[in-house]
Amino acid sequence: MRSQLEADVAAVIGPVPRRLFGSFVEHMGRAVHTGIHEPGHSTSDGRGFRGDVLDLVRELGPTVVRYPGGNFVSAYRWEDGVGAERPVRLDPAWHSLESNRFGLHEFAAWAAAADVEMMYAVNLGTRGIQEAADVLEYCNHPGGTELSERRRANGADSPFGIRLWCLGNEMDGPWQVGHKTADEYGRLAAETARLMRMIDPGVELVVAGSSNPEMPTFGAWERTVLEHTAGLVDHISLHAYYQEHDGDVGSYLASGAGLDAYIRATADIIDATGNKKVGISVDEWNVWDQRLWNEVEQPRLTAGGWRHHPEIIEDTYTITDAVVVGSLLNSLLRNVDRVTMANLAQLVNVIAPIRTEPGGPAWRQTTFHPFRLASTFAKGRSLRLGVAGDTLDTERHGRVEVVDAAVTIEETGHGAVFLTNRAATSATELSLRVRGIRLELGGTWTMAVQHGQTRHTVNSAETQPVRPVPLRDVAVTLDPEGTVITATLPPLSWTALRLTPVVRDA
Ligand code: AHR
Repeated sequence: MRSQLEADVAAVIGPVPRRLFGSFVEHMGRAVHTGIHEPGHSTSDGRGFRGDVLDLVRELGPTVVRYPGGNFVSAYRWEDGVGAERPVRLDPAWHSLESNRFGLHEFAAWAAAADVEMMYAVNLGTRGIQEAADVLEYCNHPGGTELSERRRANGADSPFGIRLWCLGNEMDGPWQVGHKTADEYGRLAAETARLMRMIDPGVELVVAGSSNPEMPTFGAWERTVLEHTAGLVDHISLHAYYQEHDGDVGSYLASGAGLDAYIRATADIIDATGNKKVGISVDEWNVWDQRLWNEVEQPRLTAGGWRHHPEIIEDTYTITDAVVVGSLLNSLLRNVDRVTMANLAQLVNVIAPIRTEPGGPAWRQTTFHPFRLASTFAKGRSLRLGVAGDTLDTERHGRVEVVDAAVTIEETGHGAVFLTNRAATSATELSLRVRGIRLELGGTWTMAVQHGQTRHTVNSAETQPVRPVPLRDVAVTLDPEGTVITATLPPLSWTALRLTPVVRDA
């Protein structure tokens, strides 16, 4: 297989928003309880924050974390998570018991410790305009009102200053508590947005778009919701999960093309409604074996009665999954002209790059690595790419280029190249010409099947054999002019190349 790519530092798609590397912590399963919060764990501090998890979160590098849901938020009373009284409640979304020992103040303190921006979702399922306004006033109003003084009495003298707010979650989904038609939701979102802006004009609001591109309402939903909320919201959400269907690895490896198409279709709808300034918030994306959830885990969960933090959706990720996560990151980088932020769903235990054992270690899943490399190196501007070479035919995403790529470049001249070889069994000879700059190779990392592994190899609490390794010296070269990179990409792989500018002699 062969692929030829061309980039020019002057041909820019757009700046890479730091918020592209967001993540998500929902009250579900063991994401919060025994995930980020485990009082009594040997690494936990006085607040119960697991130190080993915080270390891994800092290493992973998410920039913003969405909270508290997800489906959970649609029946959540935020007041349960503040103050001394923490009632135990039923969580209907995940058929669980919620202790509420972790709430707003704990999240704000944890976000500060993790050095991430907070993104908060309000309940527009069972609740409405008033409760959304109340939680905003509680969080962001400095003082002198009942709600802001309650926050101060609960230990936060200064406002939390949360800027990013989601107007509900997946309200298009029949599974959502308080599910609504597009008209019902659009009206509610508009009126909620209007009041929230009166209380704090500095907020940035995300209206709920589609839960996935297969929703029968996809398109019509966005049109109606954007008509209602025109001029009132800053972003519209898009949720996207991918999985391997019946061993069709070709389609799975082409998931980035699926995400490209979904983003471009959403952008077209935004343009058609005349809301060009509305950005796309891909505020849930990941790989997730939903068949396992629907057919095995969910029936077991409901049959098992109501329990605290049950083990659910703890997908153990393979090398293939890590490559697909890398390709989805590439897609986000290719679409920064429209995507204003994105959240890997989720962060800990629940379909997550970080896993924990209660009372035991925290460890890196395979998918940890592409996210960490991209959040570390994908900075500055994303460059438009010319692509030529071999293509592959896939069942779900049609004909795709064999290599899926993204290139970023910083003001300093430092750059990064991210490459997915979508060919499952053959290597691809790649050449990449970058015009307008002379470069040196700063480092290479590849996620691929190593000796003694298969594409299904996973990490576990005991052993983590899957991690990035350098491309062998012979496999990647740069021409003497510092403009053409050639590389042999292993089959089924995701590779990051770090580029540094040539330092010229004075
Ligand atoms: O991330 C898991 C779930 O997926 C979220 O709660 C929901 O919004 C989505 O369907």
